Amino acid sequence: MAEEEIRLVDVHKYYGAWPALRGVTYSIPRGVFQCVVGPSGSGKSTLLHVIGGIDKPTKGDVWVAGLHLNELGENELADFRNKYIGFVFQLFYLIPRMTILENVELPLILRGIPKAKRREAALEALKMVGLGHIDPKKRPTQLSGGEQQRVAIARAIVAKPRILLADEPTGNLDSATAKTVMETFLSLKRELGITIVMVTHNLELLSYCDRVVRIRDGRIVE
Ligand SMILES: Nc1ncnc2c1ncn2[C@@H]1O[C@H](COP(=O)(O)OP(=O)(O)OP(=O)(O)O)[C@@H](O)[C@H]1O
Ligand SMILES: [Mg+2]
Repeated sequence: MAEEEIRLVDVHKYYGAWPALRGVTYSIPRGVFQCVVGPSGSGKSTLLHVIGGIDKPTKGDVWVAGLHLNELGENELADFRNKYIGFVFQLFYLIPRMTILENVELPLILRGIPKAKRREAALEALKMVGLGHIDPKKRPTQLSGGEQQRVAIARAIVAKPRILLADEPTGNLDSATAKTVMETFLSLKRELGITIVMVTHNLELLSYCDRVVRIRDGRIVE
């Protein structure tokens, strides 16, 4: 059995009285490309937020990268996210007043990487998502939706995180570009052994995944 990188045991998440997750028990081995599918509102984003230490479960236990997240305080959770997690959000959350390059460099600033190295890594990440031809001094609002999505992906992979959590990362991309992004994910997995959890509605992309889990009404159904 491969080492478990992510383990959830009986995880519940309530938003007020609304149960977004209703007892999820699931493990993901290290180095696996895991896909998550399910209808809108079924709890997929909530699941990623819980794994990434963005949302705390109302009940249940979460272990990620050898850490029991339940035991971590806010500062420790922030450190955990900076150190281990790359996140591609469903809405990209790029910072509009910063340039593309600065947006991509952000995780490296948080990790205290010196400027020249940051620059080099950010340009490399932009190339990996097929944006090598774009002026990195532009602002996010000067890009198309698909280009902005790729900047968000570059930001998530720039620090070569141990775990990549991607919430519909290809939702705004044409199928050729979506495939380029999937190839980038696969090479990160192969070369660095990173664990990937990706939510997608695009069934064509499931062939890139090692495993697929379906979620419905806050529960794992298969
Ligand atoms: N911050 C919040 N406050 C209140 N309810 C929330 C919040 N976030 C999510 N929910 C509710 O929890 C449920 C699960 O939401 P979630 O975002 O995880 O769904 P999803 O599977 O990612 O859906 P989609 O495919 O549309 O992105 C939904 O019913 C949603 O309305
Ligand atoms: Mg979602």
